[in-house]
Amino acid sequence: MNLFRIDASIRREGSVTRALADTAQAGWQSRHPEGTVTERDLGVEPLPATAWREAALAMGGTGTESSAQRQAVGLAAALVDELEQADALLLAIPIYNFGVPQHVKAWVDLVYTDPRMRPRATPLLADKPALLLLARGGTYGEGSPRHGWDHSTPWLRRIFEDVWGLDLRLNAVELTLAETNPAMESLRGKAAAALELGLALARSQGEELSPQPAQEQVA
Ligand SMILES: Cc1cc2nc3c(=O)[nH]c(=O)nc-3n(C[C@H](O)[C@H](O)[C@H](O)COP(=O)(O)O)c2cc1C
Repeated sequence: MNLFRIDASIRREGSVTRALADTAQAGWQSRHPEGTVTERDLGVEPLPATAWREAALAMGGTGTESSAQRQAVGLAAALVDELEQADALLLAIPIYNFGVPQHVKAWVDLVYTDPRMRPRATPLLADKPALLLLARGGTYGEGSPRHGWDHSTPWLRRIFEDVWGLDLRLNAVELTLAETNPAMESLRGKAAAALELGLALARSQGEELSPQPAQEQVA
């Protein structure tokens, strides 16, 4: 069994998404002690920003690609290999500037250029179990002043669930900026409780990150 893990926080220390992913990974490993873990750290080692343009221009493969285009096509293939070879996925992604991190968008775009990801009846990654771990500095729930401002989660779900067909589970921890933002001081207790809950959930979600047993069909 292989677990593929994406990290996207720009920081190594104090990262909530990395803590959630560490905890979920430990849960998965407790159930799969022989399992391997493959990691791609988009936050610390982003993909080259020019790769998508080169790979997109080479789509369709005319045989006259430049060396930069061939390199980008090879990188896209390697990214899709990582996804294809995984039995389960951990996707640890913070919100930045009310949206998806640019380095995650670059990864998704590049993955898309590989011929294996073209639309088909059963997508390449259909039903693969995946855990999306999210951190938000603020809060976006119904009734909050910024309800509707989180443009990251809906887009990620559109891609991972609706387009790639992953069997997606979610875990979002909010108010992560309360600890350092004086304006959010009154929310620190709530933030600590949210983090504690998120970590406990991540452990059990990691333990259960396996394909769902097929439901018995009764005619
Ligand atoms: C440049 C930058 C922009 C951010 N923008 C937002 C934002 O738009 N909304 C929000 O809720 N939090 C925002 N945050 C806070 C992060 O989402 C929060 O700190 C989160 O915990 C980061 O993930 P990490 O803990 O894994 O590093 C931003 C943080 C940074 C550094």
